[in-house]
Amino acid sequence: MKKLVVLSGAGVSAESGLRTFRDMGGMWEEFDVYEVASPAGWAKDRKLVLNFYNERRKQLLEAKPNRGHLGLAELEKEFDVKVITQNIDDLHERAGSTSVLHLHGELRKSRSTADPRLIYEIEGWELNEGDLCEKGSQLRPHVVWFGEAVPAIEEAAEFVSGADIFVIIGTSMNVYPAAGLIDHVRAGIPVYVIDPNEVSIPGYPHLHVIRKKAGEGITDLINELRKLKQ
Ligand code: APR
Repeated sequence: MKKLVVLSGAGVSAESGLRTFRDMGGMWEEFDVYEVASPAGWAKDRKLVLNFYNERRKQLLEAKPNRGHLGLAELEKEFDVKVITQNIDDLHERAGSTSVLHLHGELRKSRSTADPRLIYEIEGWELNEGDLCEKGSQLRPHVVWFGEAVPAIEEAAEFVSGADIFVIIGTSMNVYPAAGLIDHVRAGIPVYVIDPNEVSIPGYPHLHVIRKKAGEGITDLINELRKLKQ
C-alpha cells in the first residue's frame, strides 16, 4: 500500500464546531496567546490557563468528527495512512484513524509539572488547581505551548520523508516546526492541499489545491487519489 501522510490543522475540526486560530473569528483574535498558551502565561496566572483549556475541553466533549476526519479514516482501507496533526482534539481518533501523531499535545491529557514523563487522561472536562500528579505537583495541560519544544517533530519528519503522497488539510502553515515538515517531502511526490482559503507555501508552486472545506474537499481528494492508484 502507498504511504499517505497527512498534516492536519485546526481547519479540519472547524466543521465540528471547534474554532481555528487565525481565521476570521479565530481563537487568537479573542485570547492573548501568550497569556493562555505559553510558559510565561502559566507562571503568571495558571488558573487563567487552566480555565482556557477547560473551556476548550468542554466544547470538545460536545463535538463530533466531521466528514473530513471520517474521510481520512476511510482512506486507511486503501492506503497506509499516517495522520500528523497540530490539533490537540481527539477527533481524528474518534473518526477511526488508527495512526495519529499529535505534534502539539492532547487536550484530554494532563502532565506532571515535576516529571514530564507522567501523563494522565483527564476524566471529564476539568483540570483545576490542586489536581496533583503522583509526586504531589500541580498537573498542567499536556499541550505544547509557544516557546516549548515539539518532541514529536523528528518522528513526524521521518514519516513525511517516507511518504508516497502528502496531504495538507486545514492548516495555514504559519507555525514552525510543523509548517517545515513539507520540506521533508521527497522530490516528485504529489502534495495536495484542502483549504477553502488561499494557502501559499513559498517554494512549492506545484500544489494540487482543493479549494474547499474539509468536509467537501475530502471527497475530491479520495477521487483524485483513486485515479493515482489506477
Ligand atoms: N476546512 C478546511 N480548512 C479550513 C476550514 C474548513 N472548514 N476552515 C478554515 N480552514 C483553514 C483556514 O483557511 C486556515 O488555513 O484552516 C486553517 C487554519 O489555520 P490556523 O487557524 O492558523 O490553524 P493551524 O494552522 O492549525 O495553527 C497551527 O498554531 O496556535 C497554534 O498550536 C496552535 O496547532 C496550532 C498552530
